[in-house]
Amino acid sequence: MYYPQELIEQIRLENDIVDVVSQYLALNKKGNSYFSLCPFHNESTPSFSVSPDKQLYYCFGCGASGNVISFIMAKENYDFQTALKFLADRAHITLPEQGDVYQASKNEALKSELYEIHKHAARYYYDCLKSDLGEAARSYLDKRSIYPKTRIKFGLGYSPEKWDGLYEFLLGQGYDIDLLLKSGLILRNKKGGYYDRFRNRLMFPILDIMGRVVGFGGRVLGEGGPKYLNSPETLIFEKSRNLYSLNFAKGNKELILVEGYMDVISLYQKGFTNAVAALGTAFNESHAKILNKYAKGVIVLFDSDEAGEAAVLRALQFILKTGMGVKILQLKGAKDPDEFINKYGPEAFGKAAQEALSHIAFNISVLQKKYDLNISEEKISFTKEVSKMLSGLSSPVERAVYIKEAERLTGISESAIKAEIEGIENAAFKTLNTQRKENYNYIKKGTLSEKGIVEAKKGIIAIVSERRELWEIIKLRLRPEEMGGGVYEDILRKVYMLHEENKPINPADLVSLYQEPSEQKMVSDIFTTTIAQNDLSGLETALNDQLKLIKRNYIENKMNITDDVKELQLLMEEKRNIESLNITLKDS
Ligand code: GTP
Ligand code: MN
Repeated sequence: MYYPQELIEQIRLENDIVDVVSQYLALNKKGNSYFSLCPFHNESTPSFSVSPDKQLYYCFGCGASGNVISFIMAKENYDFQTALKFLADRAHITLPEQGDVYQASKNEALKSELYEIHKHAARYYYDCLKSDLGEAARSYLDKRSIYPKTRIKFGLGYSPEKWDGLYEFLLGQGYDIDLLLKSGLILRNKKGGYYDRFRNRLMFPILDIMGRVVGFGGRVLGEGGPKYLNSPETLIFEKSRNLYSLNFAKGNKELILVEGYMDVISLYQKGFTNAVAALGTAFNESHAKILNKYAKGVIVLFDSDEAGEAAVLRALQFILKTGMGVKILQLKGAKDPDEFINKYGPEAFGKAAQEALSHIAFNISVLQKKYDLNISEEKISFTKEVSKMLSGLSSPVERAVYIKEAERLTGISESAIKAEIEGIENAAFKTLNTQRKENYNYIKKGTLSEKGIVEAKKGIIAIVSERRELWEIIKLRLRPEEMGGGVYEDILRKVYMLHEENKPINPADLVSLYQEPSEQKMVSDIFTTTIAQNDLSGLETALNDQLKLIKRNYIENKMNITDDVKELQLLMEEKRNIESLNITLKDS
């Protein structure tokens, strides 16, 4: 979704960073800044600072930094849009929708009505569960050992065995039929009549990350099919963007990914509040991205059957791609986590979770089932497959562990397995080496002084932003594209433009040009970690050094990729010119 930058700036302006942060932390004023213990790492002396002038925060200990939006994103585990919404609400500002303003406000209004309808529906189902109609559903929940307080926590309900229970109820609330159809909870039959989607089912409200009801899952009581019926996708419910119970589980470093609603709920009431489940669709790439956004690691815990194992392999593909930590847990003696924890208790579950496998160990165990290790040829194939897998591991410790494991399984000696892995690696290394040679110059020059170049880019932007008179000088000598793309190029261009238009430059607004925490931090670091040079000659030296470093780097990168001799000569000429470039500040 796209919001106009002015609106983002307005929201930021109406949320003073000191006010907002002090709702979370006890701030003490020291000089021009406020200090507190850093909420993003453990410490005993305060190194977290908030600058009311720059409207930025910066931790001298862990380097965390950003503006008020970044702070809410980090503290509440929100993405950019959600943080913006949160701050807009706090300042009583209404956010428009993307697209033209008319359609936009219509969509926004429609959405909030859909949220309302779902809230009413959840209330209705909840009341039905408590009423006489809900007796069978209540005893079903008793049978499944779901405690009363868990029923309340998850807002469980019951849709009675009537065609129009919810329909009549919602009409009574004054909603018109078009809206009810858009909610997905009411359907139209062939004769033009209307009826409830969910009938005689145990109802699981699905909440989004902000805790709003966006849909339902409905389970049959006892046997019969389909076992689960889920809300269709609507304007407020996108299945790939939601994980069941994530609103409760977020904030945990490690999440447990399970298959079913009942698994999540049973684990929750026994103390494992970090379980989530994909909703009536197979776990996919965007689910993996959500996991990665909200946690550092995940334990994949699917049902203990073959379908469960296949689903783990599928989910692993997506999770590994995100780079987050992942383990696999396979429970013995129960078909799913819900049955396990009810049968053996939370301690046994906790113990099993400790023994979750790394993805390598899991893959080995899956592979092992495909081969009969009593047959020589199969044993060899198995060893080759495992070696291929292990050659991809960069940790020598991990490698040693699994080589031993493979030896134990196959009886093939450790040294033979090592030799096999070496063979695979040598082949791979040869290919890599050829590529390396080609890129040698480029890589060497590109990475060696990377840090210095970044510091130079940050320094220049900070100086140019703060001092308009220096912009007049530098703009003649440094083009934004010489920053070499990315955030720094964009920000320098933006700063030039603001000066050009005679507008003020607010670091905190430059930060919220970006929605990704890592990019926000890059921008915020320009203003929090660069040290302003106060004396003129120091500033002059710094400026000249930084300018030359950036320009040299830009040209060298160009030289590295061109095969045109003419162009190369021109670039070399340009490079020589850089050395004679000198800004003297006294003249200005
Ligand atoms: P219990 O059998 O009551 O323990 O439920 P469960 O939550 O453990 O469900 P199960 O392991 O059978 O299925 C896992 C998840 O897949 C469910 O929570 C649903 O989200 C989904 N699911 C199961 N059956 C169906 C179905 O028939 N239709 C649809 N659309 N989704 C289903
Ligand atoms: Mn189950």
